[in-house]
Amino acid sequence: MSIPLNDLQRRILDLAQERGALILAHYYQPLEIQDAAHVVGDSFEMARQAKEAEEDMIVLCGVRFMAESAKILSPHKTILLPAPDAGCPMADMVEPEDVLALREKYPNAAVMCYVNSSAAVKAVSDVCCTSSSAVRIARQMDAEEIIFIPDRNLGRYVAEQVPEKTFYFHPGFCPIHDRVTADQAKQAKTRYPHAVFAVHPECQEAVLAEADFVGSTSQILDFARTTPAAEIIIGTELSIVERLRRELPEKKIFSVSAGFICPNMKKIQLEDLYNALEKGVYEIKLSEAEIHAAKTSLDRMVAL
Ligand code: 13P
Ligand code: SF4
Repeated sequence: MSIPLNDLQRRILDLAQERGALILAHYYQPLEIQDAAHVVGDSFEMARQAKEAEEDMIVLCGVRFMAESAKILSPHKTILLPAPDAGCPMADMVEPEDVLALREKYPNAAVMCYVNSSAAVKAVSDVCCTSSSAVRIARQMDAEEIIFIPDRNLGRYVAEQVPEKTFYFHPGFCPIHDRVTADQAKQAKTRYPHAVFAVHPECQEAVLAEADFVGSTSQILDFARTTPAAEIIIGTELSIVERLRRELPEKKIFSVSAGFICPNMKKIQLEDLYNALEKGVYEIKLSEAEIHAAKTSLDRMVAL
């Protein structure tokens, strides 16, 4: 579907061409940012695109851990984050010391680190994963015991899918997804009895238990596009709901709860994106040592 662009969006794309920059956007970004991006994806697709892109400059419309991951995977590229304070509260819930303490407690376990984490935490982990790759990577890892950090909900979901391994969890969570309750899920299903329910694995176990489909942002989008169901309840951020309503006008798309919004993902406005391209701000800076230490676990993720 081609979306008509407004004047500022056209100027952004012209300026990106002039600067030789690639604009990447996450699916939780406001739709007007997604429309002004060259590529829109989930965390995994963004990381892979950043690594494979020919452009030397990448403007990443998302949150800090995504921009840091792009920098770690492509250290020679300039990575810009248009809103420097766009963080992820879940990523801030775990420190390298927590990981080292868990390693001491479970000396035979390998550390699997959700990409929603800082470079310093990735540096003390064995492998990274995203929500779309976590189950596959856990199965393929050469370890019988896995410490999963920082998301307890995604960790439990992976453990359920990979029962042959033993998992230990860190108590981190996404404040936006974890807020949804099983009661809200049940109420939505009662209100829309013909709808199927698709949910992100950052939601609580009891919410996932109500779902017909569990997946990453792009997997939820694919599910909605391909399911024969005409009504879908979405258990993730509002921009996914908005994108689907626009893309699939023949289907009815509902949100599982009101106010399902990640405020950090809404910090970048079109003006910030233009400003980033015009002034070359805000550049992600990591030391060579930080990049080197975190690269192994992220490279493994992309390879697996
Ligand atoms: P995805 O990997 O599904 O894009 O999720 C990223 C995220 O931050 C979800 O809250
Ligand atoms: Fe972080 Fe949650 Fe926002 Fe995703 S939705 S970026 S996990 S706070």
